[in-house]
Amino acid sequence: MVVNKRLEKLLNTEGPLLAPSLLAADFTNLAAALAKVSGADALHLDIMDGHFVPNISYGPAIVKQLRPLWDKVFDVHLMVKHPEAWLEAFADAGADIFVFHLESTDHAHRLVQEIKKRGMLAGISLNPSTPASCLEAILPDLDLVLLMTVNPGFGGQSYIESMEKKIAEVREMIHKTGKKILLQVDGGIKEETITGAAKAGADFFVAGTSVFKADNPEAEIEKLKLRARGVK
Ligand code: DX5
Ligand code: ZN
Repeated sequence: MVVNKRLEKLLNTEGPLLAPSLLAADFTNLAAALAKVSGADALHLDIMDGHFVPNISYGPAIVKQLRPLWDKVFDVHLMVKHPEAWLEAFADAGADIFVFHLESTDHAHRLVQEIKKRGMLAGISLNPSTPASCLEAILPDLDLVLLMTVNPGFGGQSYIESMEKKIAEVREMIHKTGKKILLQVDGGIKEETITGAAKAGADFFVAGTSVFKADNPEAEIEKLKLRARGVK
């Protein structure tokens, strides 16, 4: 598959990947917020529609305006009903990874093919209550699986530790495909929780509150990555 330079760099990065979630940033000064997390591997963009989740965030117009300010990957996480309706808009806004919820569409297989046709990585996310087995038929087609470690809709929630069993299960399923498929976790990721998720098999970590609310976001990113690597 032909991927752009940003994705090429991400896919060639050794060790765990870290993406701050913009949701926890200061929205009165997004340019400054991005400058504070330049050591991250990607920027995680949470899109909420007030239907799939009980909250509304921001849309493709904002993402498009941010594109010139960030030269790394845009990891777009759609928490919306009918994600297929937003494919063109986010491709046009500069999304590199397009992640949608399995629970949000009847036609996941078709959407995955359409995402890939547009040169983006295709990811599927599962809510905490959705079992790993639901991924079985589609897994070999995916570039990324996102396991929610909170119920989607809000930043700043507590990590659901029992999800580590599911992380381990999906890691094993990915191993069996023989393919490189990223395993991302999202929700409540901080110094105290990242090690457990990493040990269970996650290799791509989304962190909102812990990074953006830290006194020194760059140092926090480094700390989280070291922990995920099992260094500290
Ligand atoms: C939750 C979002 C997350 C969230 C993470 O619905 O998908 O990306 O912003 O925020 P923290 O790290 O604060 O749990
Ligand atoms: Zn997210």
